Amino acid sequence: MKDEQKQNILQTVRGTRDITGNLYYKKQGFYEHAQTIAEYYGFQPIETPIIEHQAVFLKGVGEHTDIAEKEMYSLETAGGDMLALRPEGTAGVMRAYIENGMGSMPQPVKMYYGGPYFRHERPQKGRYRQFYQFGLESMGSSNPILDAQMAHIGYLILQESGRKITLKVNTLGTIESRKKYLQELTAFYTKNAESISAKDQERVHTNPMRVLDSKEPETIAVNANAPVLSESLDDESQKHFQSVLSYLDDAKIPYVIDNKLVRGLDYYSHTVFEYFTETEDGTSLALGGGGRYDGLADMMGHNKSVPGVGLGLGVDRVLEISTETSYLASIQKTPRAFLIQQGAQAQMKSYKIIEALRGADIAITHGREKDGIGAQLGYAESLGIRYALIFGQNEADTDTVMVKDMLNRNQETIPLSELTHYLLHLSI
Ligand code: HAM
Repeated sequence: MKDEQKQNILQTVRGTRDITGNLYYKKQGFYEHAQTIAEYYGFQPIETPIIEHQAVFLKGVGEHTDIAEKEMYSLETAGGDMLALRPEGTAGVMRAYIENGMGSMPQPVKMYYGGPYFRHERPQKGRYRQFYQFGLESMGSSNPILDAQMAHIGYLILQESGRKITLKVNTLGTIESRKKYLQELTAFYTKNAESISAKDQERVHTNPMRVLDSKEPETIAVNANAPVLSESLDDESQKHFQSVLSYLDDAKIPYVIDNKLVRGLDYYSHTVFEYFTETEDGTSLALGGGGRYDGLADMMGHNKSVPGVGLGLGVDRVLEISTETSYLASIQKTPRAFLIQQGAQAQMKSYKIIEALRGADIAITHGREKDGIGAQLGYAESLGIRYALIFGQNEADTDTVMVKDMLNRNQETIPLSELTHYLLHLSI
């Protein structure tokens, strides 16, 4: 019986989860922070559908990638359309660029996006079947300054996590110069076929570059002598990469050149990069990655090339490794007081206090459904809120409220009309 079938159908689907409480706030805070930086760099929002024609992704990410071969959630509609849940963001954004004629807008078109993505991978810590990304794409320019700027912006967003971030960069060169290299690489693996794993032997003929970052021990040993891509790149590729590196140097963004970094999607050419952080158990976790994809529009069958560069950040992973105080959401407010009401009339009128304070942007906590004063005081104390606003029959009649300092038990009666001013000047 399959793992999935053993599960209770009233539980979340394997690899998916409910996001509540602090995690929800943090996720929202992450998006706010990332969007704010993106806006400063001139990017604008786009939201593409979660479901697209399967061909968008098959052509976009490449038919011989892990995503297309085994990770995509595909479905056939009753009308016979083949659709898929988006496994990543770039192909859908390129589809939108082409479909909406964005080529006639001032170039490049710079867009940011986020939301859930779906890959049928083996779930484990930091790996989900429904996961969240924040992404940026710049479409319509081949200038290497944009590659560097992309890597730079991702680094800025991740820095807020409070963790040490390592940026790894590499170049895959132009599609032309890579062809020559792929022939060399295929010849090398064919010669060493006996010494690499069976799984990698298959990949040699479909996606030889993926064999380079194989995790199979026997392949890793062979890879030590594999031809190096950077050595067979043409002048244009070298020049592009050198420009990217000098822009990064100038912006003082630390990076490591990793000539084994190839990425798992077929659309890349020239620059590729990835961000890592070290986890408690000493392993390295990929927080995001991206690169240039000048051939993507052609792969998707568009009649015009659209040079582009982008990045995708793994939101679930970033939240997992970030510190308590990172990515605070602006809707999350520290309550300045706890409202306690007693009696039917006070309970009825208490919304007036809540509304007046909301108008002054003062957050308070309350339990309007509760009546007993003791229960409410106990609740306020358990939340660690210093001031209680006591609103009973007497106060409701006189339009006042009693402010009680729970620390020293002092209390003061304040007219409702002065309450916002009074609370704003209390130290909490
Ligand atoms: P990617 O490297 O496939 O790139 O995904 C980006 C990030 O998403 C990964 O580094 C990882 O943090 C996170 N991620 C991927 N799969 C999962 C998963 N199953 N569970 C949790 N997190 C995951 C892309 O998707 C490209 N579209 C990036 C890009 C944009 N390139 C150019 N433009």
